[in-house]
Amino acid sequence: MKLCVIGTGYVGLVGAAIFSDWGNEVIGVDKDASKIERIKAGDMPIYEPGLSEIVLNNIKENRLTFTTSVADGIKDAEIVFVCVGTPQSETGAADLSAVWEVAEEIGKNLTGYKVIVTKSTVPVGTNEKVKTIIRANAKEGMEFDVASNPEFLREGSSVDDMKVPDRTVVGTETAKALEVMTRLYTHLGKPIVACDLRSAEMIKYASNGFLATKITFINEMAQLCERAGADVCTVAKGMGLDRRVGPAFLNAGIGYGGSCFPKDVAALYKTSTDQDYDFSLLRGVMEVNKAQKDHFVFKVTRLLGKNLSGKTLAVLGLAFKGDTDDIRESVSIEIVKLLRGMGAKLKVYDPEAMDNAKKVLGDVSVEYCKSSYETMEGADALFILTEWKEFSGIDLEKVKSLLKEPIIFDGRNMLDKEAVQKSGYTYFAIGKRTNGVEKIDSRKSDQRSAFLTNGNGH
Ligand SMILES: NC(=O)c1ccc[n+]([C@@H]2O[C@H](COP(=O)([O-])OP(=O)(O)OC[C@H]3O[C@@H](n4cnc5c(N)ncnc54)[C@H](O)[C@@H]3O)[C@@H](O)[C@H]2O)c1
Repeated sequence: MKLCVIGTGYVGLVGAAIFSDWGNEVIGVDKDASKIERIKAGDMPIYEPGLSEIVLNNIKENRLTFTTSVADGIKDAEIVFVCVGTPQSETGAADLSAVWEVAEEIGKNLTGYKVIVTKSTVPVGTNEKVKTIIRANAKEGMEFDVASNPEFLREGSSVDDMKVPDRTVVGTETAKALEVMTRLYTHLGKPIVACDLRSAEMIKYASNGFLATKITFINEMAQLCERAGADVCTVAKGMGLDRRVGPAFLNAGIGYGGSCFPKDVAALYKTSTDQDYDFSLLRGVMEVNKAQKDHFVFKVTRLLGKNLSGKTLAVLGLAFKGDTDDIRESVSIEIVKLLRGMGAKLKVYDPEAMDNAKKVLGDVSVEYCKSSYETMEGADALFILTEWKEFSGIDLEKVKSLLKEPIIFDGRNMLDKEAVQKSGYTYFAIGKRTNGVEKIDSRKSDQRSAFLTNGNGH
C-alpha cells in the first residue's frame, strides 16, 4: 500500500519505519526541515532501540522517503496518518492546533479518495472536526474518509510494540474505510477492534487513564507500606501474580511523567468536566501523583536539611523512564530542579538523555558527567531517578569509596535493600522503611507544607 505519515516524532517515525518494513511504500512528512534532513542523512533525531537499522534499511530499499511537503506526501497515498503532537494546553485540554493545521493542509491538497487517519491522541469528537476542516478546504465533491487509529506504543520498546501490538483499534464511519484499514493490519493476526470514531478516541484515553491510576494506586500503597512497615515490592509481587491484577505498572516510584500520562489524564478529566461529569478518581490520581514527588523531596530534607548549599548530589537518570532520551514531563528533571533550588550542586548522568536535559537544565549548578561513577566522586548522596537497567548493577563497594557519605535515595526501587543496608548505607527507597530512621509522615508534617508553600525549588 502507499502510505503517508505526517509528523515524524516518536510515534510517526517509528510508525513510518514499521509500515515500510511491512512492505508498504511510505512517505514521512514533517514541518521541521532540520529533522527531515537528519533522518534523510541516517541520523535519528530520537533514541529508540532498533529504530535506526529499520529506517536505514527501508530508505535503502526505496520503500521509505521523507519530505517537508504535505502536498507531495499525500499525493499518491491511500492512507494518510496524522501523528503530530497534542500537548497539554493551559486548561488541561489537549492542544489540537497542530491537528487542525494538518487537516487544513490535507484538505487543500486532496487530489482523490484517501482515508485520513488520526493516530495522535485526541479527545472524543476530534475526528468529526477533522472531517469538517478537510471538507471545508477540499475541492467540491472530493471523496475521503476519516478514521481513528490511536497508538499504544511505549517509548523504549516502541519498535516491538508497533510490530506486535496487543490489539489495533480502528474507528471508522464507512465500510470502505474499514476495509482499507483492515488491509493494512490484518497480516498481524492480532485482534482489530473495529468501532465508531468516538469509541476509538475514548479507548486511548481510557487505557492511559487506567494505567496512570494503576501506577498511582501502587504509589499510594507505597506511602502506606512505609508507615505500616511493609515492603511495597513484596506487596506488588503478591498482587501481580493474581491474573486479574497482573504485574505490569505496579512499580512504586517517584510518580508517572512523560509526554503521555500527565497530559492524557488531564485531558480526560477535562473531557469529563466538559460533559458535566466530575471524574473524581482521575482528580485524585493527578493530586497523588504530584504529592509523590514532594514526598520524595521531603525525605531528602529530613536527612540533609532544607538548605542544601554546599552539598553535591549525584543523580543517575534524567529521562522520564528507562530506554528513552525523552525528558518531557520527566519527574527526574523536576526533582533535579527542586534540589538545585534548595542550593545543591548536581552531578548528573543519563545514558541517552544528556543532550535533551542540557537544553532545559542549562549549566547553572549542574555538571554533566560521562558515567554513573563520575557523578559520585565527592558527592554527599546518590540519587537514582530513572529506571535504566544499568543502574541496578552498580558496584556498591565502589560507590561507597566515591561518595563522601554512604547515602542513597532510590526513587525507582532499583537496588536490593538488604544488600545496600548490609554494605553500610543509609538507604531510602519507595514504600520500604529505612533502618534507623524514624517514620516519616510527610503528609502531616508542618515542615513539609512550609517547604512547599515557600515555593522552594524552581
Ligand atoms: N510518544 C509516545 O510514547 C506516544 C505513544 C502513543 C501516542 N502518542 C501520541 O502521538 C502523538 C505524537 O506524539 P509524539 O511523541 O510522536 O510527538 P513528537 O513531538 O515526538 O512528534 C510530533 C511531530 O509532529 C511534527 N509536526 C507538528 N506540526 C506539524 C505540521 N503541521 N506538519 C507536519 N509535522 C508537524 C513535529 O515537528 C514533530 O516532529 C501525540 O498525540 C501523542 O499523545 C505518543
